Amino acid sequence: MDPLKGKKVLVGVTGGIAAYKAVELVRSLKKHGAEVKVILTPFAEKFVNRLTFETLTGNKVFIDWQENPLTHINLSRWADVFLIAPCTVNTLSKIASGIGDNLLTTTVLAYKGNLILAPAANPAMYNNPAVKENREKLKKRGITIVEPEYGILACEEEGEGKLANEEKILEYVRKSLSAPLLKDKKVLITCGATREYMDPVRFISNESSGEMGFSLARVCWWFSAQVKVIAGFTTAQAPFCVEIVKIRSAQELRAEVLKELNNTDILIMNAAVADYKPVRRESKKLSKKSKLTLELEKTPDILEEVGRLKKNTLLIGFALESEDLINRAKEKLKRKNLDMIIANPPEVMGAKYHKGFLITSEKIEEFVFGSKLESAFFIIKRLTSFISS
Ligand code: CTP
Repeated sequence: MDPLKGKKVLVGVTGGIAAYKAVELVRSLKKHGAEVKVILTPFAEKFVNRLTFETLTGNKVFIDWQENPLTHINLSRWADVFLIAPCTVNTLSKIASGIGDNLLTTTVLAYKGNLILAPAANPAMYNNPAVKENREKLKKRGITIVEPEYGILACEEEGEGKLANEEKILEYVRKSLSAPLLKDKKVLITCGATREYMDPVRFISNESSGEMGFSLARVCWWFSAQVKVIAGFTTAQAPFCVEIVKIRSAQELRAEVLKELNNTDILIMNAAVADYKPVRRESKKLSKKSKLTLELEKTPDILEEVGRLKKNTLLIGFALESEDLINRAKEKLKRKNLDMIIANPPEVMGAKYHKGFLITSEKIEEFVFGSKLESAFFIIKRLTSFISS
């Protein structure tokens, strides 16, 4: 279910020191199931070797027209997506001006699909007014620029100019290979565990890693949604391309969700909210006694409240149940006024696979996948058909 799987990715590599990072990038694209062809500019070949890319991709590397005068046309027709990484400001500016003076820039002129540029440059060069203007021009034309990151560069200067992180570049490629099924939709996703403190250092919480919520956020972003994640405590890798707001307690989560509700098309409540909190939070660390009785009170049921308040927001909840999974989830669907609920048995916690039931008022579908990302893909796909039906 990785959008890269089976897709043809044309990678252009230009002549900057970050060209060595293109080797790992090509390796990752292959690892995720893409077929890759590489075009090197003549200057890039001084930094990285043709044989390296030919070995990694299993395809011939292209530098000029030596064998076929139609190479640029053939490559532009072959690619599902065209990524240039690293892209020097020279190549970026030539593309903005429509110049085709080598095989790479000429192939760009012939290419009609999604073009992604991942620039890397000295900060002064990247922010040169002419380059800035060219970047704006390209963005207006719908070309994706994966902005470089801040850091210490090979020229030993510090600033914005480091080639973007490899995973981030891959996410942009995945997005450009996915249909914009959620374009213009604002999606709010809650995830992770909340914590309810009894003193400054001790708390009640749960095992949630946030992986499911982060996976849902990635898939929504691939489908062109505007995604915001409200995350409690998580151990999973956070997605690179979505806005994340951190919260700690159920009360903070409630405040954030209610603030966003009227500005949200789809709300996915995946957070594992602690159901109880200590009645008192001690200001000083409790010292040891032979016995301690902790008085707890219920936290607000945010999903139920949102179910009462919502107007046009599509509402998706989760239910983890040890017994009578489907009936209990169906009861929650109704009581909390949800459009969809995902019911999971407790054994999915920490397991290598993921399974559950997707329940709406109309049907129940069982699913079993090898990962939470695959389940997330399935859930969001169903959600998009729900919207369009
Ligand atoms: N939820 C919430 N606020 C809470 C507890 C849960 O918004 N205080 C949301 C969760 O994000 C999830 C759904 O409610 O989407 C179901 O959570 P679950 O703990 O299974 O349900 P509860 O309503 O707490 O039911 P139970 O009595 O079975 O624990």
